[in-house]
Amino acid sequence: MKRVGLVGWRGMVGSVLMGRMQAEKDFDLIEPVFFTTSNVGGKGPAIGKDVPPLKDAKSINELKAMDVIITCQGGEYTSEIFPKLRAAGWKGYWIDAASSLRMDKDAIIILDPVNLDVIKAGLKNDVLNYIGGNCTVSLMLMALGGLFKAGLIEWMTSMTYQAASGAGANNMRELVKQMGSIHAAVKDKLDDPASAILDIDRAVADHIRGDKYPKEFFGVPLAGSIIPYIDKQLDSGQSKEEWKGQAETNKILGRSGQPIPIDGICVRVGAMRCHSQAFTIKLKRDVPMDEINAMLAAHNAWVKVVPNDRDKSMRELTPAAVTGTLTVPVGRLRKLNMGMDYLGAFTVGDQLLWGAAEPLRRMLRILLE
Ligand code: HSE
Repeated sequence: MKRVGLVGWRGMVGSVLMGRMQAEKDFDLIEPVFFTTSNVGGKGPAIGKDVPPLKDAKSINELKAMDVIITCQGGEYTSEIFPKLRAAGWKGYWIDAASSLRMDKDAIIILDPVNLDVIKAGLKNDVLNYIGGNCTVSLMLMALGGLFKAGLIEWMTSMTYQAASGAGANNMRELVKQMGSIHAAVKDKLDDPASAILDIDRAVADHIRGDKYPKEFFGVPLAGSIIPYIDKQLDSGQSKEEWKGQAETNKILGRSGQPIPIDGICVRVGAMRCHSQAFTIKLKRDVPMDEINAMLAAHNAWVKVVPNDRDKSMRELTPAAVTGTLTVPVGRLRKLNMGMDYLGAFTVGDQLLWGAAEPLRRMLRILLE
């Protein structure tokens, strides 16, 4: 059995990963070794089989004994430990949720329902580093994989509606606190059916601009507002999140040499853990809608084409419907006014599952084949 070291399993993405690994009985197939940065020698998690006491996640010697390491510990940990581990001669597989190594030439971005061929070629060529993709990119590819596979996309935009979870666990808590604080600020007026809506609106506006509104982690209001900037500012005018759209998509598809242009504006909205995206897709030719629907639906087992119907869209194509599931619905599919080779689409996906944890455990399964 392969000795698999798990680092960062207690955090948000790590906890989702642990849940999925237990649900899929991955632990039956490996010898898991749990690492910690804070509780060396402590008891490992209850996973239905004995595990050794927690080992030191900073100990290169302990890490070196692993065949595979899966880390959700974050980019700083990767930047500190990974180079030392390789410098110490470790030849195991490094599977990582953080972005630090994604664009390295010695790393493959993993999303096997989309790029199993790229992953298999990497394994054949002794690539040892397999990195999970950016969540919006992975969810976009799960939704639109059929069109990419058919080579139909000339260029596209992705305008995102990203959930609080992408910013971290504290931000999710803060979003709920913000919602609660808004309600508390106007509860009396709300309970009075005779109160004027513009009074309520003014009180909400004053509150979200005021000092009592909790915004320690976001820095600005999210509940009752949106944040039209995600991640660092780049000289190109893009945010880092926007830059990833083209760079990572083309790397995942193994076509960085002939990139498909992809760009858009990434926006944080008050959803908990599902990212949504609206696309304008320039097709290489006019393809009939029934063919497009069929291609999208056939691409993988998780994408679900939602008919472009008001009721179905409102019920099935939302964070509320999708959260906590692996289903990636894609809908609002129609040709746009710009011409028959312009397609509009909208998708929603759980950014902690396909956007973070799921590709990691599936990569482990590929290594165990
Ligand atoms: N960068 C993403 C976000 C999360 O902020 O929503 C992870 O890829």
